[in-house]
Formats: sequence, C-alpha cells, structure tokens
Amino acid sequence: MTDSFSTKYGPWALITGASRGLGAEFARQCAERGLNLVLIATNTELLKSQQKSLKNDYGVDVKVIPLDLSREDILPVITPATNGLEIGLLVNNAGVSKVHPFLQQPLDFSLKQLHVNSRAGLILTHHFSRKMVERRRGGIIFLSSGSAMYGTAYCANYAATKAYNLIIAETLWYELGGYGVDVLGFMAGSTKTPGWDANNPKPNRLVKVMDTKAAVTEALKALGKKPSHIAGTTNRLGYFFMGKVMSRSGAIRTLAKSMEKLFGPFTENT
Ligand SMILES: NC(=O)c1ccc[n+]([C@@H]2O[C@H](COP(=O)([O-])OP(=O)(O)OC[C@H]3O[C@@H](n4cnc5c(N)ncnc54)[C@H](OP(=O)(O)O)[C@@H]3O)[C@@H](O)[C@H]2O)c1
Repeated sequence: MTDSFSTKYGPWALITGASRGLGAEFARQCAERGLNLVLIATNTELLKSQQKSLKNDYGVDVKVIPLDLSREDILPVITPATNGLEIGLLVNNAGVSKVHPFLQQPLDFSLKQLHVNSRAGLILTHHFSRKMVERRRGGIIFLSSGSAMYGTAYCANYAATKAYNLIIAETLWYELGGYGVDVLGFMAGSTKTPGWDANNPKPNRLVKVMDTKAAVTEALKALGKKPSHIAGTTNRLGYFFMGKVMSRSGAIRTLAKSMEKLFGPFTENT
C-alpha cells in the first residue's frame, strides 16, 4: 500500500490546518505511507512540534509554513516555499467552525471563515493541480462535512463553505480525473478534535463521534475510488435515510432540532 500510495501521490503532500485535529492526522497517515510533508497553519509552535515528531517517527522530510490562510496574498508566501517540491497530494483541510445563530456571527468572522474554508482551497487547487495534470498523477482532498448536504441551522456560513467544497471536489473529480488526478470531497461527521470540542457539544447517544484516525483512514481509502465520501457507517445510513423519507424542509428542521440538542440552548438571534 505504501509503495502504490507514494507512487501515485508522492513525493510531497501539502496539508493545510495540519497543526492539530484532522489535519495533524492526515499528516501522520501520509508520513506513514512515506510522503514528505509541507504543513500549513497559524500556530508556529504546534507546527514545529509536529515537524519534529513526524521526522523522528517516520524519517520523512517535513517543511512548515506558518501562515494565516485568511490573508489575501497566500500564494506569494506558499509559492517560494514550495518551489522545486513535487506536490503530489493536496489536502485542503484548514477550517474554522463556530456554532451559533447566524446574526450572532460577526460579518468579519464569516468572511474570514469563507476565506479559510473555501477560498484558500480554491487558490491552492488552481495552483498545484496544473502540475499534477502535467504529470498525469496526483490527488486532492477537500474537507467537506455532513452539513454540506442540507441547510444546517446555527452554522449557516460554515455549512455553505462545506457545500462549496463538496461541489468543487465532485466536479474536479470528473474534470481532473481524466488527467489521472484523483479528487475527493470528504464529508467528515462529528469527529473528536480540538475544533469539535471548542463548540462544547453535549453528550448525545444519537451522535456517534468518530476519532481522527478512523476518519482519515476512510478518506485516504476513498481517494481515487469515488467523487465524495461520508465518514462513518452511521452517518452514511442517516443521510441515506433522510434522503429517502424526508422532504427537504423536514430534513432541515430535523437537523436544526439535533443542533439545538447538541449545542443549545441558543439565545435570540440578535
Ligand atoms: N471535527 C469535526 O467534527 C468535523 C466535521 C466535519 C468537517 N470537519 C472539517 O475538518 C477540517 C478540520 O477540522 P478539525 O475538527 O480538525 O478542526 P480544528 O481542530 O479546529 O483544526 C483546524 C485546523 O485549521 C487550522 N486553521 C484554522 N484557521 C486557520 C487560518 N486562518 N490559517 C491557517 N490555518 C488555520 C488550525 O490551525 P491553527 O490554529 O494553528 O491556525 C488547525 O490546524 C475542517 O475543515 C472542518 O470544517 C470537521
């Protein structure tokens, strides 16, 4: 598996949001498969500690780029740091999530969220996929979410960024797939990460929280096999069932109720 994975997606993987959570696990599992790594996030200390442990544990080369992906000028920082590196796998993972009523999220924060969650992935994909197409091989993963499937109350802008990621991934699966480049929209479900914990979810027996190892294993397994993948059997069954038996409005209301149970109570919208 290591050989075929690194032949197809090596020798370098670039992973955004790799300082913790799912991104850190993508980095670990790519290193395990023999890929060298470029890791991007804002927290320099965490990035350096990842760099040290991944080098020690797997003997791969690891470069870090401390960078705020909500900045306008991300390519002028990333291009010189990656020139000469053959990026065979791009994981657009960095994401900002916050659960609260729409009007309680300041517009500035929503715009930053849009930039980090979607704009950065668009820019990086446009830049790195060109070389992948020339080489006729490579892989790109966009982190989407179950919230991409239906309007999801209390995270309207977040869910919309994840829907963007799903659609661009599925479309490029077809367009770039013809040139040997695999693209996947990965719909993570509730996954135990610092980002998940920061929203203070309440224990709920209906919500199965995955660990990052299982989620990332599923993503890397699905890459090259299909346009998009929902993590976790329970989530897949849930969305299948909702699609079959519920109206669109019914599904949106059901999801809103479960968000209220999991993250509420919410105060008034304004
Ligand atoms: N956990 C879940 O339940 C879940 C479910 C569905 C989808 N997802 C998606 O999976 C991805 C990872 O989520 P996670 O739960 O692992 O989140 P997390 O624990 O909050 O980690 C987010 C990562 O993104 C980086 N990041 C945030 N803002 C950034 C910025 N402005 N510039 C550069 N990097 C930035 C963070 O690093 P710094 O703080 O160092 O910048 C961190 O490495 C996200 O796209 C999220 O939407 C997660």
